[in-house]
Amino acid sequence: MTTTLITGANKGLGFETARRLLAAGHTVYLGSRDPERGRVAAGRLGARALTIDVTDDASVAAAARTVEAEGGLDVLVNNAGIEGRRPDGSVVSAADTTAEEMRTLFETNVFGLVRVTHAFLPLLLRSAAPVVVNVSSGLASLTGMTREDSPGHAYPGVAYPASKAAVNMVTVQYAKAFPTLRINAVEPGYTATDLNMNTGTQTVEEGAEIIVRMAQTGPGGPTGGYFDVAGRLPW
Ligand SMILES: NC(=O)c1ccc[n+]([C@@H]2O[C@H](COP(=O)([O-])OP(=O)(O)OC[C@H]3O[C@@H](n4cnc5c(N)ncnc54)[C@H](OP(=O)(O)O)[C@@H]3O)[C@@H](O)[C@H]2O)c1
Repeated sequence: MTTTLITGANKGLGFETARRLLAAGHTVYLGSRDPERGRVAAGRLGARALTIDVTDDASVAAAARTVEAEGGLDVLVNNAGIEGRRPDGSVVSAADTTAEEMRTLFETNVFGLVRVTHAFLPLLLRSAAPVVVNVSSGLASLTGMTREDSPGHAYPGVAYPASKAAVNMVTVQYAKAFPTLRINAVEPGYTATDLNMNTGTQTVEEGAEIIVRMAQTGPGGPTGGYFDVAGRLPW
């Protein structure tokens, strides 16, 4: 039996990933920073609700203790993330990007991912087939963002792409440090969720596909890579 934790799974891509992995036979901890939202979402799917705020040391440590006491972890999906749009849906421009805004985005997307990975690593390293999926973005690709014909090239924000580029580097370095782990960064594609005021052009079913696939990577599968549904992406 494979036990999986998905952070930020009370809605959006994380929720859909939980639904699919439950259908594939995983025991799923549905992570949510809000206990009530987590309880309702987990109840809808038959998952285990786990309160986990990735920006909070005590919350992450308590979540790790719970999962350890209940038997351990095989798969971690670091999905929780924020884009930091303004209330009117617009992306904060380069001219308006402040250090404080960068810090907020990095606190969830990068430091949160590292906080959770660090806390759950001892459990994962006890698994026979440990897997980590880091939900990155196409906007993390330096190659893509510097090519005028790439879909993300016109994206005006600074903090979000920078935070996801950091996620990619974190993935590469963990992969080298822990060779028994399959750890990869994935780009779901532009998907209609609350993150982008539902402006995305894909459904959550389409967006979750690569997350679900990489969560099921076997011991012989790739590690330290960056993938979308069509295959490897350039860094
Ligand atoms: N949608 C896209 O087009 C797209 C494209 C590329 C990558 N991504 C990435 O995909 C991931 C999922 O995003 P989504 O599109 O599904 O967005 P979403 O519907 O807004 O879901 C984001 C999830 O992250 C949770 N979250 C935010 N801050 C958190 C924290 N401090 N601790 C724990 N959970 C937290 C949210 O919880 P609350 O409900 O409590 O806010 C929510 O469950 C993100 O990493 C995002 O960057 C999305």
